[in-house]
Amino acid sequence: MAVLVKTNRRVTLAARPEGFPKDSDFALDEAEVGEPGPGEVLVRTLWVSVDPYQRGRMSEARSYAKSLELGDVITSQSLGEVVESQDARLSPGDLVVGQLGWQEYAVARGGSVRRVPEFLDPPTLALHVVGMTGMTAYFGLLDVGQPKPGDTVVVSGAAGAVGQIVGQIAKLMGCRTIGIAGGPDKCTDCTLYGYDVAIDYKAADFRNALKAGCPDGVDVYFDNVGGEVSAGVHARLNVGARIVICGQVSQYNLERPEPTFHPGLLIVHRARMEGFLVTDYAHRYDEAAVRLARWVAEGSIRWREDVTEGLENAPAAFMGMLRGENRGKALVKVAERGG
Ligand SMILES: NC(=O)c1ccc[n+]([C@@H]2O[C@H](COP(=O)([O-])OP(=O)(O)OC[C@H]3O[C@@H](n4cnc5c(N)ncnc54)[C@H](OP(=O)(O)O)[C@@H]3O)[C@@H](O)[C@H]2O)c1
Repeated sequence: MAVLVKTNRRVTLAARPEGFPKDSDFALDEAEVGEPGPGEVLVRTLWVSVDPYQRGRMSEARSYAKSLELGDVITSQSLGEVVESQDARLSPGDLVVGQLGWQEYAVARGGSVRRVPEFLDPPTLALHVVGMTGMTAYFGLLDVGQPKPGDTVVVSGAAGAVGQIVGQIAKLMGCRTIGIAGGPDKCTDCTLYGYDVAIDYKAADFRNALKAGCPDGVDVYFDNVGGEVSAGVHARLNVGARIVICGQVSQYNLERPEPTFHPGLLIVHRARMEGFLVTDYAHRYDEAAVRLARWVAEGSIRWREDVTEGLENAPAAFMGMLRGENRGKALVKVAERGG
């Protein structure tokens, strides 16, 4: 069955951002909707994800993934419904998630998308707690951070998409949790996510508050932000501490990253610092998805979505997220299911 709508609105990279991104770095264009070939599906986008890593893809700097070219659709995880299928495993109406980009329609290999289980309510959970951000929290904390009951776990970016989940998994593991976030509202959010202590890194007494909040030092530091916030946490490490380098969002818009880490600290504290990528754990996504979905169903993991309406507003949502305006997982709603 051929789809009737022939145009595909897309958000593309118009210019490589210099420093903080601006409106003119993005363009909204229209292209023809593609036809799925053998083994492919045509997906109509319902939601797109807004994530800090997209800033790295816009730059030419060497990274773990290929940079976008000018004119490319902005890469993103998206949730959509299959409208045509040439893959026997998927049928029209199925909900799927995949790396489909900021566009209304995408043609993808059937094997490159994941079917969203019907029991996931709302299905957008597949873009956060039971999707990439949840997996990031799960593998980063449990595999890299290796928390033990009674450990003090500090999380930066604690009110954000990954951070809101890390703290709750750490509580489930029997840890004491300290969330660091920007401003009083985000600190209130941290307490809703069960953090034992919430600390505002924008407050003048940040370092003193951190000292008071971690009287027994820090056993696991889950680092989402880097920079001065992390320098403050490094000063409170315990012997044997594990520093999980998940992200460094405070550095993404700087021409030169700030040198705030001193390797000698690893000697003093016999500490381990390790970076990781969630995609390295692709072979274990099913394990994490089952546990994360169960924790959500039991009410052990709470979450919040920060929804922007309209594909054309995705760049604004992205820039707002980099400024810290999102309260929870930043998402853009593109269309209604079955519409
Ligand atoms: N390693 C992986 O595989 C992987 C996968 C997914 C995500 N990540 C990383 O995880 C981190 C969190 O991602 P997310 O999707 O959960 O985003 P998020 O936390 O929902 O949103 C980004 C947040 O970063 C904070 N921020 C911005 N500038 C900052 C600064 N200068 N200093 C401190 N905080 C700042 C803001 O929160 P405040 O209002 O609190 O400042 C903002 O809300 C990012 O670094 C991302 O790159 C890594």
